[in-house]
Amino acid sequence: MATLLNNQMLHGGDYNPDQWLDRPDILKKDIELMKQAHVNCVSVGIFAWSSLEPEEGHYTFGWLKDVIDTLYSNGIYTVLATPSGARPTWMAHKYPEVLRVDQTLHRNHMGGRHNHCYTSPIYRQKVWEMDKRLAEAFGKHPGVLLWHLSNEYGGACYCPLCQAEFRSWLKEKYGTLDALNKAWWTAFWSHTYTDWEQVEAPGPRGEELLHGLVLDWRRFVTARTVDFCSWEKQAVRAGGSDLPVTTNMMGFYYDLDYTKFKDVVDIVSWDNYPNWRGEASDVDTAIHTAATHDLMRCVQHEPFLMMENTPSQVNWHSVNRLKAPGMHELASLQAVAHGSNSVQYFQWRQSRGASEKFHGAVIDHYGESDTRVFQEVTHVGERLEGLSALCHANVQPQVAILFDRENEWALDAACGPRNGAMHYEQTMESHYQAFWRMGINVDLISEEDDLSDYRLVIAPMLYLHRAGIADKLRDFVAGGGTLVGTYWSGLVDENDLCFEGPTPGGNLTDVYGLRTEEIDGLRDEDCNHMIWNGKTYQLRELCELVRPKDAKTLAIYSDDFYAGKSVLTVNRFGKGYAYFLASRAEDSFYRDFYRLLIEQVGVTPVLGKTELPEGVTASKRTAKDGRAFIIVQNYTSKTVCFPLENPLTNLENGQAGDSLTLQPYGVMFLSE
Ligand code: GLA
Ligand code: ZN
Repeated sequence: MATLLNNQMLHGGDYNPDQWLDRPDILKKDIELMKQAHVNCVSVGIFAWSSLEPEEGHYTFGWLKDVIDTLYSNGIYTVLATPSGARPTWMAHKYPEVLRVDQTLHRNHMGGRHNHCYTSPIYRQKVWEMDKRLAEAFGKHPGVLLWHLSNEYGGACYCPLCQAEFRSWLKEKYGTLDALNKAWWTAFWSHTYTDWEQVEAPGPRGEELLHGLVLDWRRFVTARTVDFCSWEKQAVRAGGSDLPVTTNMMGFYYDLDYTKFKDVVDIVSWDNYPNWRGEASDVDTAIHTAATHDLMRCVQHEPFLMMENTPSQVNWHSVNRLKAPGMHELASLQAVAHGSNSVQYFQWRQSRGASEKFHGAVIDHYGESDTRVFQEVTHVGERLEGLSALCHANVQPQVAILFDRENEWALDAACGPRNGAMHYEQTMESHYQAFWRMGINVDLISEEDDLSDYRLVIAPMLYLHRAGIADKLRDFVAGGGTLVGTYWSGLVDENDLCFEGPTPGGNLTDVYGLRTEEIDGLRDEDCNHMIWNGKTYQLRELCELVRPKDAKTLAIYSDDFYAGKSVLTVNRFGKGYAYFLASRAEDSFYRDFYRLLIEQVGVTPVLGKTELPEGVTASKRTAKDGRAFIIVQNYTSKTVCFPLENPLTNLENGQAGDSLTLQPYGVMFLSE
């Protein structure tokens, strides 16, 4: 049972037998092929509502029982989904209130999925009934491992019920209308509310510029979604199941703050769809994907599951490329390198009709195992069987980058020096890539995380300071940590109201030993420069002008009327150091800068002093007993060979060596 979840890497994926209930030959073949592919678990029932309750109140779970039983008797476990991600047609027809209302306040028709209101009492009741019954029927089945609550919760509903719920949430938060008016600065443009009923969700035909409202609506959407997720969890608990629950998240998905799910789900899982061989280089894609795994791992700071990835191509980019031979294995094991205890696919078998009929699958319409994709999937399954020792090992970085969703929402909403082009996520990745290239693991954390385990904390563009973050950063530096802060930081409080007095506000000016004054927004084609350590670097997008007090200037602007002014500074504060970078530098700067900085702060790359070739990285998972596993990955189409600082043993074949040879797209698991 749950032991598989903890002690073995899961290999499998989304399985939709409900599309082939009239084809026992296909269902039989599925089992045969799953065994061949070393599949040990599949996710069932994700969009199966109309097969589970074809008519209101008429439940038909027999087929599901057969499927789960057959899988189990063949050694394959079930991740059992609740079907709430897509309501059945009869329900939408009979109870239109279950359908979502869009931002223009029009109710959707039946169609698509994820098209339901999270507030509708009818939808909640129907979901409760379904989930509870599923739990009663299968919650103690020895073949069921885990609950997969819904599917990719996302989006928002603007129906009257949701708007009323928003007002209740605000009442709870602010207590009085007066407090809300102050927090949102509603005296501006005569927006003062005199009755709670006047408060509406932001929308294109209404208000979108009251930043406090916009930010609170986004927070509310997350809270509503978390509430719906926990409603589903309570329903399976009410059905007597105490199996762990998860829900499949979507990485950097903008509209939800996933950190708020950390106490609802028992294990984090997410769906990973990198665009290999796409517009960005594979190395850049690998960096972005690595960061996404790290973001997802940091929701709970525990190993997670990669719930979906495609075995070949997706069908929703404008152009969908195949993975070159080897890429699938590398991309799958990249997840493991960053803390995943599974490689699962969307999807096991390709649908015959509807929108995903050309989406990659382990079994395509040809239906047999002699395909390139099937062989590669099988090979991944074989390798995962030898990696069980990693299940209890976690990634434990000494470096963290603050990447806070609320901060992103707020800084994107603000009308300021570069509208619509602040590039928070890309900026974070400019810092991140430097560590990836050195083979150093990084945590991506929110303002709510604890900083005490890190030696180095980087806080790019920390525009919004929620209560407590400034003190936390201050204590971190005073206690001996190294902080790197940047332009556009510490400007507003958690209500998105500007700090009065010197900035970075909320008392960081003495930590950085400077105050920020003005900021220049650059057009995309423009740049400034700085010279640091004898090299010239381009500066783009935003150039902040700072006034150092105790901080020491390390680099100055070269151009424009602010040539000669500080752009990079450092300040000793307590036992630590705070660096301040006043502009967005080109990527090579971060590589050079952090290479020096990690030596100063005592952060060691996973492979020590070993020089990693371009496109190669290393990640480490450490078990509670201290045993470390090192995963080296080659994201190039060339064989790479390089000497190691210290000899390592190949975990899969037991061979020790003091150099490494990685095949094109090769990945190796090593131990010390
Ligand atoms: C998402 C969904 C799946 C499927 C895939 C296609 O991740 O969860 O149901 O639609 O996308 O890539
Ligand atoms: Zn609604």
